[in-house]
Amino acid sequence: MRVRLDKYLADMGVGTRSQVKKEIRNGNVTVNDCIAGSPEMKVNTASDRVICQGKPVAYKRYEYYMMNKPAGVVSATRDSREKTVLDLIREERRSDLFPAGRLDKDTEGLLLITNDGETAHRLLSPKRHVDKVYFVRVRGCVTEADAAYFREGADIGDKNPTLPADLQIKTSGEISEVILTIREGRFHQVKRMFQSVGKDVIYLKRLQMGTLILDESLKPGEYRNLTEEEVNRLCSQEKKQ
Ligand code: URA
Repeated sequence: MRVRLDKYLADMGVGTRSQVKKEIRNGNVTVNDCIAGSPEMKVNTASDRVICQGKPVAYKRYEYYMMNKPAGVVSATRDSREKTVLDLIREERRSDLFPAGRLDKDTEGLLLITNDGETAHRLLSPKRHVDKVYFVRVRGCVTEADAAYFREGADIGDKNPTLPADLQIKTSGEISEVILTIREGRFHQVKRMFQSVGKDVIYLKRLQMGTLILDESLKPGEYRNLTEEEVNRLCSQEKKQ
């Protein structure tokens, strides 16, 4: 693939587009041992050797991070007022990353952050009905009748009821704890499903999305690269569905 040198460097997290342009103009970037002439020059991502301020910058087409999203940050790339999930990524951060799907500000748990638009689209497409598994703490006593209602499809005030969802009750009482598997990603879906049976969600954490399972060793706010196996499963399984 051939890309502009400034995009190459910005995508690899060397700096913003204007910062890397400055580096190039200051003669701090070489391509195959020759000082790069301009930010517009095209480089071959597979074969050209790019060095910025003495540090080799290898091109990686796709990046995949698993984050345990903490409460209090928004699932957006940029926000003028709120801290975003991308603000939590500390190391050199490529410019084309985005969170694949949204969790509410107060929701915790599994979030995929990537620059692979095609895979993200497949994972999130409403047509594919990829399973999303949540741990939910609810105020009120969750019953088997609620589970049956969710299995049939809940009326959450949209044109159509939800698709059948699976509810496993872990504990029920004044506060109940459940595992809910849904196959869509409607706005505030889990909270609205419980509201439809007269209960409020007081804590919500996503545990799984398709083949991707939250690594419980990640504390809220922590993230890691997906393993090769996770990437292969994510890309191949989501293609098959
Ligand atoms: N359902 C919700 O209500 N909130 C989320 O963040 C995710 C699913």
